[in-house]
Amino acid sequence: PQIIVVNQSGEESSVEANEGRTLMEVIRDSGFDELLALCGGCCSCATCHVHIAPEYFDKLPKMTEDENDLLDSSEHRNEYSRLSCQVPITGVLEGCKITIAQED
Ligand code: FES
Repeated sequence: PQIIVVNQSGEESSVEANEGRTLMEVIRDSGFDELLALCGGCCSCATCHVHIAPEYFDKLPKMTEDENDLLDSSEHRNEYSRLSCQVPITGVLEGCKITIAQED
């Protein structure tokens, strides 16, 4: 699917996302170095925090308790927050706007 990534300055870019990868990998590998993803996708750092477009949020697989707990450590959490390393790329993301959360 084609997704729209919004960086921390509010600039939008259209990005081709291949199924089978995670949202974190796609954003990071598209050159957004502000998505730190320090733990490399192990769900232990919370530096891959993004906000999902509200109308897409419920289409994603539910978050685990670990992800939920980690997100609680961010002061920028909102009801559409996810850790992008825990979000698989599937067709449901077609056209979805994904905003990289501000750094804590
Ligand atoms: Fe560390 Fe997602 S990359 S929690």
